Amino acid sequence: MRSTKILALSGSLRAASYNTAAIQALKILAPSNIDVAIGSIGDLPLFNPDREGEHIPSLAALTDSLKNSDGLVIASPEYAHGISGPMKNALDWLVSGTEFPYKPIMLINTSPRASHAQASIREVIKTMSGIVVDKACVTIPLLSSDLDAAGIVENKDISDALKLGLNALCAEIEAQKLSSLAN
Ligand SMILES: Cc1cc2nc3c(=O)[nH]c(=O)nc-3n(C[C@H](O)[C@H](O)[C@H](O)COP(=O)(O)O)c2cc1C
Repeated sequence: MRSTKILALSGSLRAASYNTAAIQALKILAPSNIDVAIGSIGDLPLFNPDREGEHIPSLAALTDSLKNSDGLVIASPEYAHGISGPMKNALDWLVSGTEFPYKPIMLINTSPRASHAQASIREVIKTMSGIVVDKACVTIPLLSSDLDAAGIVENKDISDALKLGLNALCAEIEAQKLSSLAN
């Protein structure tokens, strides 16, 4: 049976990022039939509509991996009550494409105190016709935890939350596949 393909993106470029650690942990925790690929947004140029249609290798890599994925995971920090610049930049590059609309999405919030950026990214995703899967969205207390990916995997509460979220995302993907077969 074909594995379910998930693309995971971190909105932080920081080497010791909790958001990046969360998606690295998700990749480790995923069962063998779920392939979590970690994408990169750090090399994208600043969004410029004049450059849409130009061949930009980092953008082509992102759109190809999104096209080949059944679902998307976004773990992105809050900066000054907003979406991180790198993540908003990546989303802006994807606005005009065909890869993002109707993609089921899991949001990971690594800081329980951060609510503005999560609300804002939901609005952006809705505007871009992505589907936030509510049951798949998790808030995990990583801020100031000093946990890296291995530490997250070893932490039962946090790894259970990530696994439940991923299961819910994959259940939505399966439900979408069944309903498209029925139609
Ligand atoms: C410039 C800056 C602004 C921030 N603004 C907020 C904020 O408004 N709300 C919040 O909850 N955290 C804020 N933070 C904390 C970050 O969200 C937090 O450090 C997060 O862990 C960064 O993600 P990362 O670990 O994946 O790099 C801010 C951090 C920085 C560096």
